[in-house]
Amino acid sequence: MIASENFTSVAVLQCLSSCLHNKYSEGMPHQRYYGGNEFIDEVEILAQQRSLQAYKLKPEEWGVNVQPYSGSPANFAVYTGIVEPHGRIMGLDLPDGGHLTHGFFTATKKISATSIFFESMPYKVDPKSGLIDYEQLAVSVKLFKPRLIIAGMSCYSRCLDYKRFREIADENGAILMADMAHISGLVAAGVIPSPFEFCDIVTTTTHKTLRGPRAGVIFYRKGVKSVNSKGEKVMYDYESKINQAVFPGLQGGPHNHAIAAIATAMKQAMLPEFVEYQRQVINNAQRLCEGLKSRGYNIATGGTDLHLALVDVRNKGLSGARAERILELCSIACNKNTVPGDKSALNPSGIRLGTPALTTRGLKESDFDKVVDYIDKALSLAQEITKSSGPKLVDFNKFIEDNADIKAKINNLKEEVEKYSQSFPLPGLERF
Ligand SMILES: Cc1ncc(COP(=O)(O)O)c(C=O)c1O
Repeated sequence: MIASENFTSVAVLQCLSSCLHNKYSEGMPHQRYYGGNEFIDEVEILAQQRSLQAYKLKPEEWGVNVQPYSGSPANFAVYTGIVEPHGRIMGLDLPDGGHLTHGFFTATKKISATSIFFESMPYKVDPKSGLIDYEQLAVSVKLFKPRLIIAGMSCYSRCLDYKRFREIADENGAILMADMAHISGLVAAGVIPSPFEFCDIVTTTTHKTLRGPRAGVIFYRKGVKSVNSKGEKVMYDYESKINQAVFPGLQGGPHNHAIAAIATAMKQAMLPEFVEYQRQVINNAQRLCEGLKSRGYNIATGGTDLHLALVDVRNKGLSGARAERILELCSIACNKNTVPGDKSALNPSGIRLGTPALTTRGLKESDFDKVVDYIDKALSLAQEITKSSGPKLVDFNKFIEDNADIKAKINNLKEEVEKYSQSFPLPGLERF
C-alpha cells in the first residue's frame, strides 16, 4: 500500500528486459554521438509522441524529454537548466507532503542537492486543516521572489489549485513547474484536474499511478510565450536549456529500454481501461478513508481526492513508526509519514496508504472494507503492545520478540492477510 508503488504491465517489463538495454545513444534523436541508432531514434520519437498524446498536448505548444533516469534527476535537470546556481526555488515542505527534491533542508543540514546548489524555501500546509495555505504562499513568494515555484507533492491527498499557483507566480515573475509524479496516471486519465493548462514545465515519474517503468519525463512549453508592446513575438526558451541540462549536463547515455517502456506505458494510458482503473484507484482510496474514519481514525484533510490517504494515528496512542512496523509484520507494506502539526520529522505521527498497486491487482471498494478490517486489527494489536511496552519503537519491537502470545496473534493475522491477498493476481505472475 505504498502510495508511490504499482505493478507495471508485462509489456512494460518486456521492454525493460529487451535488447534495447544494450545500446549507447547519447544525444537526441537524429543527433547522436554514436552510430547505429536508427531504431533507437524511432523508439525515442515514439515515446515523445505518445507522451504528448497521453496528456492531449499540441506538439507546437509543448516539447518533451523522455531521457531522465527517474523523477529526481528530471527535477534536478529542470533546476539546472532554468535556475542559475544559487537561484531561488520554492516547493512544498517535505514534512508537509512535498518531495526531497523540492528543496528540503533542516536547521543544521542541507539535505537535498536542491538546497545545496540552489536557495530553497518551503511553503506549508495549514496545521489545522492540512490544506496548502495559499494565502501564506502568496506572502512568502512576494518576499522570497523565487525564480521557480513547484506545485507538486508526495503526500497530500487533495487536488492542487494550479490556477492559484499561476496567479501567484505571475504576480512575482516566477516560472511555475508542476511535479505530477504521484498523480500522472490520474491526470492522463482525466479524472483529476491537469496541471498543463497553468504550468510552464511539468515533470513526472512514470512508475507510480502511471504504472509504467521506473523513469522520468520532463514536459516544457515551447512556441510563442507572449507578444511585447512593439508587437514582437516573445518565445519560450526552455527547450534547449532543459534538453542540454539532461544531456550533457547531468546524464550520459539514455536508458533506451526504459524509453521503450515509457512509449508502451503512454499507449496503455490512452486506453479506456486505464480511465476505469484510475477511477477505481480514487474510489478505493475514498472507501479506505471512509472505513478508517468509521473506526475512529483521523485522516489528514478529512479525506482524499486522489490515490492516497494520510492517517494520523495520534488519537490511537500510536506513532507512525509503530503503526508501520506492526503492519509490516502482518504483511501490509506502508510508510510512516509526518502529519500536519507534527513537531518532529524524525518521529512522525502518521502513515501514508495508497491504493494504486492493490487496484492493479483487482481490488474493488468492498475489498477495501476487508483491507480496512486488517489494518484496524493490526493497529489494535499495536495499541495492546504499547500498553505493556511503552511508546519507544525499540521497546515495542523487543516486547513483540519476547512475547509468544503477541507473536502468535501477529502471525495469525499475517497468515490471514497473505491468504486473502493470494486471491488477487500479480500482472504477469499469475502463478504467485
Ligand atoms: C513528487 C515526487 N517527485 C519526484 C520523485 C522522485 O522520483 P524518483 O524516486 O524516481 O527519483 C518522487 C518520488 O517519490 C515524488 O514523489
